[in-house]
Amino acid sequence: MDRTVEKISTGVDFDRIRADFPVLKRKINGRPLVYLDNAASGQMPTFVADRIDRYHRHEHSNVHRGIHSLSQQATEAYESAREKTRQLINASENEEIIFTTGTTDSINLVANSFGLSLLKKGDRILLSQMEHHSNIVPWQMIADKAGAEIDVIPLLDDGRLDMEAYEELLGERTKIVSVVHVSNALGTVNPVEKMTALARQAGAAVVIDGAQAVPHQPVDVQQIDCDFYAFSAHKMCGPTGFGILFGRKEHLEKMGPYRGGGNIIDKVTFEKTTYNVAPFKFEAGTPPIAAGIGFAAAIDYLNSIGMKRIADREQELVDLALEKLRKIEGLRLIGDPPERASVISFVLEGIHPHDTGTILDKHGVAIRTGHHCAQPVMERYGVTATARASFSFYNNEEDVNRLIEGVKQVKDFFK
Ligand code: ALA
Repeated sequence: MDRTVEKISTGVDFDRIRADFPVLKRKINGRPLVYLDNAASGQMPTFVADRIDRYHRHEHSNVHRGIHSLSQQATEAYESAREKTRQLINASENEEIIFTTGTTDSINLVANSFGLSLLKKGDRILLSQMEHHSNIVPWQMIADKAGAEIDVIPLLDDGRLDMEAYEELLGERTKIVSVVHVSNALGTVNPVEKMTALARQAGAAVVIDGAQAVPHQPVDVQQIDCDFYAFSAHKMCGPTGFGILFGRKEHLEKMGPYRGGGNIIDKVTFEKTTYNVAPFKFEAGTPPIAAGIGFAAAIDYLNSIGMKRIADREQELVDLALEKLRKIEGLRLIGDPPERASVISFVLEGIHPHDTGTILDKHGVAIRTGHHCAQPVMERYGVTATARASFSFYNNEEDVNRLIEGVKQVKDFFK
């Protein structure tokens, strides 16, 4: 079968798109870089880097507090990120978009501002076995403070969540369900819409970690119907240090601030402080202005390609890589879910994943190895680490071939 990714993709010249990412022209250890560590962090196109550079050189001023033109222009540019983010995930109002420093910060905000005031002794928080540590540890800390308990939705052998167990675990005392949309360690796409509907019937609020979903597929928070949804800019062509938390207005109105400081207040006296409205009551201090403006540019860039096209392109690459990896003897896929986005985890029989990663790096292929901040996933599948290749729309068929060639070289080395 003549099956080239470039032939299957329609409507977008992905070869031209590669030119937008100067880093992809680099050589690493004498070979052209193959960047397959997109789940850890994505690369930034020139368009976004230039926008951030222009802001720093010509437009910098603090936001939300200046009467002068420069400050007002910076505020307008920064706040445009809120409107673009709202559109990207189809939230109904800009007030529902809170800016944070990343997905981890977003989840900590929900756990502290929402979780801590909601949870009573004996209440239960339902997480899943495939969560990133950032969607486990904040809840453990809050559970300790509130006297709440944590339940865990188990994983099936193929990397899906056990939905029957989920329904059984959803009890009267379950107040919060916090699950990942796309697993960073397995690539599994969870049925978050269905999970949210079930949680609602049980009277639980739903928090979704979308760090590995929003960069790779269209996401509609109204369609999912969740209460909170968290993600990061740096995995989707934007800068590090910038995160997003969508929260339903009805919750945000009732929640108190997570951090104290300027910007979040209405009036401060030594006797009493009253707070600003959402989203500002959650954004203490000078925000990451350049990062926000860069993220607005990243959204423009992604929209110029289209999230559906990005999803289709990545699916083709993942399918092609899976087809080829399955043919390699001694290679075990960790998780083989029917719905998978952008991530493939594997181990080679008798070879430590760090060795796999080191040899691939010698051949210019960048992957992540380790537990991927998801140790319960490793435990479930009886491994301490995996090798993880994660794709983006700027990868191509040659990248897949170089990965396969590299894996074969790893095997040859240890023969
Ligand atoms: N959470 C990121 C990853 O999976 C850093 O690599």
